[in-house]
Amino acid sequence: MRLPKSFYSWTTISGAVLASVSFLLIVFSIIISLIFPDEVGDYLGLFSYIVLPVFLVIGLILIPVGTLTKIRKDKKRKVQREVKFPIVNLNDSSQRFVVLIFVVGTAIFLLFTSIGSYQVFHYTESNEFCGTVCHTVMEPEYVTYHGSAHSRVRCVECHVGSGATWYVKSKMSGLYQVYSVLTNSYPTPIETPVHSLRPARETCEKCHWPEKFYDSKLVNRKSYLSDEENTEWNVQLLLKTASEHKAKGLAEGIHWHINPDVNIEYTATSFKRDTIFEVKYTNNKTGEVRVYKDENLEDFEDSPRHETRTMDCVDCHNRPSHDYLSPTKFVDHSIASGEISQSIPEIKSVAMGILVKEFPTTDSAMNYIAFKINEYYGKYYDDFIAENPGIIENAISAIQEGYKKNYFPLMKANYSEYPNHIGHSESPGCFRCHNDSFQSEDGHIITNDCNLCHVIKAQGPAGNIEYSTSDSTLMFNHPMEMTDWKEMACYECHRELY
Ligand code: HEC
Ligand code: HEC
Ligand code: HEC
Ligand code: HEC
Ligand code: HEC
Ligand code: HEC
Repeated sequence: MRLPKSFYSWTTISGAVLASVSFLLIVFSIIISLIFPDEVGDYLGLFSYIVLPVFLVIGLILIPVGTLTKIRKDKKRKVQREVKFPIVNLNDSSQRFVVLIFVVGTAIFLLFTSIGSYQVFHYTESNEFCGTVCHTVMEPEYVTYHGSAHSRVRCVECHVGSGATWYVKSKMSGLYQVYSVLTNSYPTPIETPVHSLRPARETCEKCHWPEKFYDSKLVNRKSYLSDEENTEWNVQLLLKTASEHKAKGLAEGIHWHINPDVNIEYTATSFKRDTIFEVKYTNNKTGEVRVYKDENLEDFEDSPRHETRTMDCVDCHNRPSHDYLSPTKFVDHSIASGEISQSIPEIKSVAMGILVKEFPTTDSAMNYIAFKINEYYGKYYDDFIAENPGIIENAISAIQEGYKKNYFPLMKANYSEYPNHIGHSESPGCFRCHNDSFQSEDGHIITNDCNLCHVIKAQGPAGNIEYSTSDSTLMFNHPMEMTDWKEMACYECHRELY
């Protein structure tokens, strides 16, 4: 059984070899990943569903290209043909063989393409693809994602909508991202906010039903002061997430902003949306409109206006899945959990002194943390180390661990690049609007009254905590006596490390 002469060209043969080898490799890698689903690395999927199919298709294209050029060449060599199209004669055994190969081959190919494209679809929607293929670039988001309440929600559920338009849209921007990774032209840090983020109505509200409002939330904060004893300081806040009484729904409280009858639009002066310039409130039911302007902004008319945006979940919950903690927070967490012993003198302030530094790589940070702590305690507290073996090593590894989960020097990702808008201690957050300087013409101000959003239920150092009686609030007591904390916004001091 022989194939017609036109098939014997080097291009055709190499095409056929390339296609068959890639095909076998695809089948092989799929079998491997089925047999050992846990052991295979993150990159096998990339090969079986993206790289190898490209070679398969190239091979398949080479086959007809080779055959056609061969026919054309033969023609030039004056091998005369009377008819334009090939005549298929099924009585000729070699031609029958070609037709058989062609029909069976096409059928198998179509079958595998449909299974394959389904797999490609699934693979490109997986966390593995989104989070690890461009490892360095997505590492910060991937690591913080795994520490969040949403680590079981797939990346695409927040970032890509359902339906064909979103699919195409995301793959087009994906192509650009692949290009920028290959040419090393991606920005560090990756720009935020994500202006093309799928609207919160379609993502968050699928799981968190706005009609189902939340009860008040009790938050306990333990922090440790930078003194010799690492004094534990407690604050207990009752956050007024929703109305005091369920019957009132979203009529008041923090989630009032997402009441369907309320529409809040704001105009930001920059891409980052962190400086707000004008706020507009519309009551969809009564038609009432109120425009608040920042009275401190002198050149109001000349200020740049970047965009006007309707407020939704992400304007407060901008870090539902990628929250980078500040050193103050992650060291406090480790002391509270006992990984860093509170008995190590000055450990909070020594850790802060180290973490204010900027490091070019994670490795250099790891080395410096270990070196500095060993050096400091070896010099000033060698008795303490001798009496408490292992205690310093545990503290070192907890600080290193905290650094690795929250700082990503290569991508320049950290808490100051990606501030969390919930609160007001380390970044403006709620105080972007609630700063007492936005005023409407009818005299309403967006207030920063300390009891608007929460009541303080308890506060003070361990052993001497002051409690409020059932429904009253405590006057905020700043742990350090100072006159100017009321004049300045909290974040103006607290974004620095103490
Ligand atoms: C619960 C929803 C949610 C999930 C799940 C989620 N993200 Fe995000 N992601 C967000 C939001 C919200 C933002 C920031 C939006 C903003 O500030 O504009 C964001 C921002 C980002 C950014 C831009 C940089 C930044 O931090 O602002 C990247 C990159 C990113 N996400 C990647 C991922 C990857 C990879 C996964 C899966 C491993 C993932 N996301 C899972 C909601 C989510
Ligand atoms: C696929 C479902 C799903 C989607 C989509 C989703 N969430 Fe969640 N979210 C959850 C679940 C489940 C929890 C509770 C997790 C827990 O208690 O451990 C949660 C918890 C939260 C919490 C409390 C977290 C905490 O740390 O206490 C906030 C705030 C939140 N989600 C906001 C958002 C926002 C904002 C979005 C959209 C960007 C979003 N969620 C999208 C399912 C989802
Ligand atoms: C004005 C800012 C703001 C907006 C807008 C906002 N939230 Fe919240 N939300 C908060 C604050 C503040 C809390 C309480 C603080 C915390 O959980 O750390 C909270 C708490 C939550 C919680 C946790 C409740 C609990 O008891 O643990 C969920 C879930 C949540 N919000 C979802 C949403 C969703 C979904 C949207 C959009 C439909 C939204 N929020 C819009 C500020 C906001
Ligand atoms: C884009 C601007 C903006 C941001 C950001 C913002 N708010 Fe507001 N908020 C408003 C406006 C406008 C009002 C209505 C002011 C008035 O009473 O005239 C308001 C009112 C409130 C109220 C009173 C609601 C009621 O009537 O009971 C609470 C509580 C509140 N905000 C909490 C928060 C919290 C917490 C945050 C941060 C997580 C926040 N807001 C961020 C614009 C904003
Ligand atoms: C617009 C709403 C709003 C106003 C006004 C407000 N806060 Fe807060 N505050 C918050 C939110 C939201 C948090 C964060 C809660 C969390 O982290 O879950 C917070 C956190 C805090 C904390 C804990 C901080 C930490 O990091 O440990 C303290 C203390 C506090 N507020 C005091 C005050 C004082 C004092 C004032 C008056 C000058 C004030 N707040 C005004 C919304 C507000
Ligand atoms: C003038 C600067 C300044 C201002 C303004 C300020 N703080 Fe502080 N705050 C400090 C210093 C310094 C410490 C002591 C830090 C330490 O010893 O670790 C501190 C400690 C704290 C602590 C306990 C420990 C810690 O580090 O979390 C809380 C809680 C706190 N401040 C809340 C607030 C709040 C809320 C506001 C705004 C209402 C505010 N502070 C305004 C400088 C300031």
